[in-house]
Amino acid sequence: MRTATKKTISMRLPPDLPSDLRAALDKLAHGMSRKAIAARAAEQSQNYRAGGGSRAIVTADDALAYAFARMPGTYAAAVAVLDALHETLPDFQPRTLLDVGAGPGTATFAATRSFASIRDARLIDANARLRALALALMAEADGETLRHVADEAAAAQSYRHGNALALLPGAEPADLVIASYAAGEIAHGDLARFTQALWGATAGALAVVEPGTPAGYARILRMRGELIAAGAHVAAPCPHARACPLQTPDWCHFARRLPRSRDHLRVKGAEVPFEDEKFSYVVLSRGTPQAIEARVLAPPKISKIAATAKLCTDGGVVTDIAARRDHDAHRRRKSWRWGDSVAR
Ligand SMILES: C[S@@+](CC[C@H](N)C(=O)[O-])C[C@H]1O[C@@H](n2cnc3c(N)ncnc32)[C@H](O)[C@@H]1O
Repeated sequence: MRTATKKTISMRLPPDLPSDLRAALDKLAHGMSRKAIAARAAEQSQNYRAGGGSRAIVTADDALAYAFARMPGTYAAAVAVLDALHETLPDFQPRTLLDVGAGPGTATFAATRSFASIRDARLIDANARLRALALALMAEADGETLRHVADEAAAAQSYRHGNALALLPGAEPADLVIASYAAGEIAHGDLARFTQALWGATAGALAVVEPGTPAGYARILRMRGELIAAGAHVAAPCPHARACPLQTPDWCHFARRLPRSRDHLRVKGAEVPFEDEKFSYVVLSRGTPQAIEARVLAPPKISKIAATAKLCTDGGVVTDIAARRDHDAHRRRKSWRWGDSVAR
């Protein structure tokens, strides 16, 4: 079980899974023992920790266990990243979406909620079981864009089954491309090719989300650097396109606290009614994003004497301190949260 300390975690609650997705998951799990789902989820989690990835998901039940255990967290991370994208690309209205390494379709659910403008969603994944689960979930979805993906006549093209490295070069570019928790499953030697292929399929903006670990951050940093060299703009989280100023052992990551449903508690074998999904990400765009002054890199500390925040700025990482006697500055900083873009 993961433990959480109030000191290091944002208290802002993210939206839970949307009700149509929750209902579809419940329907698929109907009659199944939650204990059995929990046991499978625990095995998967061990396998992930050992670097095994999602190749171990081979049955429909494995796929469902993955969805119960991981979709709330990856969905929350995708929503956070898309929120950041909205801030710096406020006029971006994607009509087409490409979700790469889409699995059960988590990022597609998040993106079609975040952007009502999306009319056409395309997905790619190498795992047949996760793809089948996504189609079953989307068949029950509220939105027409998602239901269209699951349409029998369209599904072979809308959700392509296969290796992204092979399929991406032939994919029609989409306005918004998302690779959520997928880059970590690409072999180190293929990451540059994967990155270029993602960018080649991006007409507007590319969002890459990875676990908020040093390894996830390292992949994000590498992809960011390669795409800046290819002419991409950095839309989030960085306020600049320079080299990341953070020094090892520090790394750039954020967290979203999400409530755990009863089922989620069961499958995780957890007792704390929330969890903190930690993620690293980068959003790259073809158009110029709006500049931000700073990004909050850790939970600000508010004391009786001062408000202190760690910020990434165009000039590097700074410790911002506002004394309590400076009422306005102190009050403004009290509302800052880890991950926010802020103006001083
Ligand atoms: C950890 S899951 C993430 C799923 C989903 N994007 C999410 O955020 O919940 C990683 C996904 O990437 C897929 N994947 C890994 N390597 C791939 C490749 N070379 N081509 C296509 N899909 C791949 C896996 O099959 C799996 O569904």
